[in-house]
Amino acid sequence: MLSKRKINKIKILNNKKKFRLDKFIELALFSSNGYYLRKKPIGKKYDFVTSPEISQMFGEIISVYLLYHWKDKINSKFNLIELGPGNGTLFKDIERTAQILPDFFANADVNLIEINEELREIQKKNLNYFTQSKIRWSKVLNFKSKLPSIIYSNEFFDCFPVRQFFNDNSHWFERYVKFNEKENKYYSINKPVISKKVLVDLRKYKKQKIYEVSYSRNKYFEQICKYLRKNRGMCILIDYGYNVKIKNFTLQAIYNHKKTSIFENIGQQDISSHVNFNELIEIAKQNKLKIDEFISQREFLIKYGILERKKKLLSKNSNLKKNLINEEVDRLINIDRMGKLFKCLVVSNL
Ligand SMILES: C[S@@+](CC[C@H](N)C(=O)[O-])C[C@H]1O[C@@H](n2cnc3c(N)ncnc32)[C@H](O)[C@@H]1O
Repeated sequence: MLSKRKINKIKILNNKKKFRLDKFIELALFSSNGYYLRKKPIGKKYDFVTSPEISQMFGEIISVYLLYHWKDKINSKFNLIELGPGNGTLFKDIERTAQILPDFFANADVNLIEINEELREIQKKNLNYFTQSKIRWSKVLNFKSKLPSIIYSNEFFDCFPVRQFFNDNSHWFERYVKFNEKENKYYSINKPVISKKVLVDLRKYKKQKIYEVSYSRNKYFEQICKYLRKNRGMCILIDYGYNVKIKNFTLQAIYNHKKTSIFENIGQQDISSHVNFNELIEIAKQNKLKIDEFISQREFLIKYGILERKKKLLSKNSNLKKNLINEEVDRLINIDRMGKLFKCLVVSNL
């Protein structure tokens, strides 16, 4: 268990005895001692492994998709923006694949949006010199450029804090977090919802028992959609999530590849939730963007050629390497692994 001093260091208490769940998550992930500001989380040795870290083929397929759409629909100067590049592996694979179309990077203003300083340093080490001179790093998206944009991300939108509501006989309650000084630990409590604005929002969900929402995620995506609407472009995002009513809350904590409670290892473990894609699709439509794709990761990768790419790699490699390549592709597209839970949403006005 964390010492009281350490917990205070996370500045979570803020002299309040009770606070909203999303505030707790925000502090646990993004305060100065929070998980995303002080920890190197991604990779086989760390807390979790993401698709680009599993196989180079993931980034190659995304790259070909971006190259094709840029050439076909933009073919001039543009912003290439990655949200939350982690170790920079996806960018590296896109960059390598883009050598087949040198005009792509020749026309790109590259922006990497990364909140974690340690990861930013890792990205600088991992990325190649040519593009590095063209890369701008920032913590937040800057919406000033008037150029068209291609914005993409993998496992970025799952990081946003959520609020959780449940409906008991037509009365809505919200999950809050409380600190027990004696036991030096956090636990959750339920509070009746009294805000008129929230109650109006919740009317839409009156047939549901539970509702989990990330207002900050929706707002971030809305800003992207408004920006694309004004300056043209596309946004491709891959994340785990759902587009049906959920029966259980999806908030989870992962520590060393294992699921834990969100109240353990505070500041040391990842907390994430599944993305509600219906809400993002609704926001895109409200901003007059087309839904170019909304399919599972399996369908996206197969549609854009991962099996052909695998065949090519298999023909060039030893038996040992062949097993590894087969295993990597299986992990990405098998519906019992990452194939179904992960979804790919592409919105655009190109
Ligand atoms: C789950 S990791 C995924 C990393 C990478 N995209 C991959 O697939 O390996 C989330 C990434 O987003 C960054 N991140 C999370 N929230 C952020 C925010 N609000 N602004 C900028 N970066 C953020 C994290 O530091 C990390 O690089």
